[in-house]
Amino acid sequence: MRRSITARLVLMFAVVTLATFLLIGAALQGVLARELDRHQYEELDTTLTSLRYWIESIGTPERWARVQARMDALSPEDGSVRFWVLSDDPRFQYGKGLAEIDGLTRETDGRGSDILLPGQARPFRALSVHIAPLEQRPAVRLIVGRNSGPYERTRQTFLAAMLALGLSAVLVVAVAGYWIARLGLRPLERLSDEAQGLRPKTLSQRLQTDALPVELSALAEAFNGALARLEQAYAQLEAFNADVAHELRTPLANLIGGTQVALSRPRSTGELQEMLASNLEDLERLRSIVNDMLFLARADRGEAATGRVRTPLADEVRKTIEFFEFVLDEGGLQVRIEGDMAVQARLETALFRRAMSNLLQNAIEHSAAGAALTVALREEAHAVWIMVSNPGTPIAQAHLPLLFDRFYRVDAARRGHGEHHGHGLGLAIVQAVAAMHGGQVRASSVDGVNSFGFSVATDAPGPSH
Ligand SMILES: Nc1ncnc2c1ncn2[C@@H]1O[C@H](COP(=O)(O)OP(=O)(O)OP(=O)(O)O)[C@@H](O)[C@H]1O
Ligand SMILES: [Mg+2]
Repeated sequence: MRRSITARLVLMFAVVTLATFLLIGAALQGVLARELDRHQYEELDTTLTSLRYWIESIGTPERWARVQARMDALSPEDGSVRFWVLSDDPRFQYGKGLAEIDGLTRETDGRGSDILLPGQARPFRALSVHIAPLEQRPAVRLIVGRNSGPYERTRQTFLAAMLALGLSAVLVVAVAGYWIARLGLRPLERLSDEAQGLRPKTLSQRLQTDALPVELSALAEAFNGALARLEQAYAQLEAFNADVAHELRTPLANLIGGTQVALSRPRSTGELQEMLASNLEDLERLRSIVNDMLFLARADRGEAATGRVRTPLADEVRKTIEFFEFVLDEGGLQVRIEGDMAVQARLETALFRRAMSNLLQNAIEHSAAGAALTVALREEAHAVWIMVSNPGTPIAQAHLPLLFDRFYRVDAARRGHGEHHGHGLGLAIVQAVAAMHGGQVRASSVDGVNSFGFSVATDAPGPSH
């Protein structure tokens, strides 16, 4: 089940209220019980003291009858207060069930105690005192008892009232808490309404942050940041789509134009073969663009190089250069490998060669005849860098980081025609290969030497051999 902030707040409010009430209730209950006890014993003590003075002054059976009458008068009809006088002489006794009382109170002389009388639901609070003999009267023991039932009932009533109050307080707090939580969360609702109104067309909109409470403005700002990045990505995607369409248009126009011309009149087999060969060139160009784009899309999805094997980099570089032998000889170009010749890294060799080829191809395309190219291998913190350099026209600093973007070329006018047939995906693929190996890309143009390169992480996690 999804968690609700409102429900949790209400629950927490209710629990805290209940706990507070229980605490206060328990404390009050304790105070009440103590006060009631004190009150009971004070009353008992007053009665006991006044009777005691009286009995102390009586020494004959004739006067004892007046004591009995007095005690009768003091005993209420409901039996809630009772008196007992215990003695060895039956003429100086008072009360019912004396033998039992004697057993129950023998231990508790002078102190308060609870005694449970037969046939009573509640115990009696009792105080007792010894009175010295006088004339004919022997020593007697006076006991005053009071039914604790009414006090017990008071305590129970109080407990019930506390419970009822506590439960109603919890209810009130829960309802109020619900409203408070809803009120407090209202800005969140407004925020989500606002966010819901966003569409790709309105990506330039931002959430209003100044009217928001501080707790939410950080969230809204983070969301706005995400929106800004999304807007940028969206704009890039749109530009990319336009670029793709543009790149595909030229070969398609060539194909259609060439085919139309060929169909305009009857052709010989030789002419048709020539036309098909020219079509094939354009078709291959189309295929290479589509393949490159599919590769980049795979890299975009975060696909990493899986078949990585520990390989000496210098060997791989040398093998790639061999593929270009013919082109290099033709231009009278030299390639030198320098730096950490023994350095090794875990590579997916096919991907590595693809990136190397793109870099070499660019270097060859942008070098004058007879130039000297270099491939430098260098180990840096947790990465090996492969930099391909060639002497060439300086590239403006502003262009350098953008060259790795798809379809980006320094000279936009050269798009799609002239002696240069690139479609602007070569360096983007280098970047993708670097990313698949946990690496990065770099470009520099210093003192007439242009360098492009990428890195491969040396301690990247992955399947090892
Ligand atoms: N060695 C270099 N010297 C000067 N400029 C370069 C060099 N390498 C790349 N560039 C610039 O970077 C741009 C992008 O290169 P990239 O390899 O991505 O595309 P491309 O070579 O134009 O086409 P593709 O490689 O897809 O056939 C090139 O058009 C060029 O302007
Ligand atoms: Mg290229």
